[in-house]
Amino acid sequence: MSGPVLLTGAAGYIGTLLRGGLPERGHALRCLDVVPVTDTRPGEEHLVADATDLAAVTDAAQGASALVHMAGIATESSWAAISHANIEGTYVALEAARRAGVPRVVLASSNHATGMSPRVANAQTDAQPRPDTFYGVSKVAMEALGSLYVDRYGLDVVCLRIGSALPEPRAPRHLSTWLSPDDTVALVDAALTAPSPGFAVVWGVSANTRAWWDLTSARALGYQPTDDAEMYAEAITSALGEPTPGTVEHDRLGGEYAGPDFSIDAVAARAQQADPS
Ligand SMILES: NC(=O)c1ccc[n+]([C@@H]2O[C@H](COP(=O)([O-])OP(=O)(O)OC[C@H]3O[C@@H](n4cnc5c(N)ncnc54)[C@H](O)[C@@H]3O)[C@@H](O)[C@H]2O)c1
Repeated sequence: MSGPVLLTGAAGYIGTLLRGGLPERGHALRCLDVVPVTDTRPGEEHLVADATDLAAVTDAAQGASALVHMAGIATESSWAAISHANIEGTYVALEAARRAGVPRVVLASSNHATGMSPRVANAQTDAQPRPDTFYGVSKVAMEALGSLYVDRYGLDVVCLRIGSALPEPRAPRHLSTWLSPDDTVALVDAALTAPSPGFAVVWGVSANTRAWWDLTSARALGYQPTDDAEMYAEAITSALGEPTPGTVEHDRLGGEYAGPDFSIDAVAARAQQADPS
């Protein structure tokens, strides 16, 4: 199917990477965000809209060849905020695609869907969900909604369980979880171009020497990661040490999200400190 890819969350970190890398891989982009994209590029279409507005997203999806859904809250927040932006937003992305006849949706899931799981080598994507936060719960719901729209309505839906999408790793855990900028683009490109993926859940990490997630299913889509966080290992471990056994950073897939700093009360206290009004 021809037509642009509708990219929600286009003004965010990953949205900006995709705007930089997907066009040269042959994907024209129609960009949507609740805030304006300030560094627009030639050839892009732009819409300012709320990704939880079904009518607006359905309009935006008309004629699109695929929908890449990156809009949402990208960390822990209140239940009200997370459930609206992330769960309602995912429903809207999928339902808008269905109504507009868009055959494929790529969803930005997260490792925090299973963040409470003990760290194991080669963790698979088919283990029981064990979210570490409301944010993680929203990603479990995202994957469940994606599965429903494949089974009931025949869409192709690829859920990317992204690790740590950052310009560079900056903590010991990132030596295992980093997804580099180039690999972020390569992963989404693979999710857009794999022939008939049906429903797929894949880890989104680079080819990290210390990775603890199995990339077999991502590679089956055609993803070929080129970066490895190991090139930062010496600098990071000499400055910050190795993760310590017995801490959440070492023992749980979700790292610090699985610990007390991400309890509801701790998150609310931080929000209160940032905005005492
Ligand atoms: N960056 C990571 O390491 C990482 C890891 C796992 C998953 N993810 C997921 O990837 C996606 C993108 O992450 P990011 O790092 O680019 O986050 P980001 O916060 O930089 O970007 C999110 C974008 O979504 C937009 N947005 C939020 N609510 C919206 C709404 N209701 N309507 C329209 N736009 C809205 C924001 O304005 C922002 O531009 C998120 O779903 C996040 O949960 C990111």
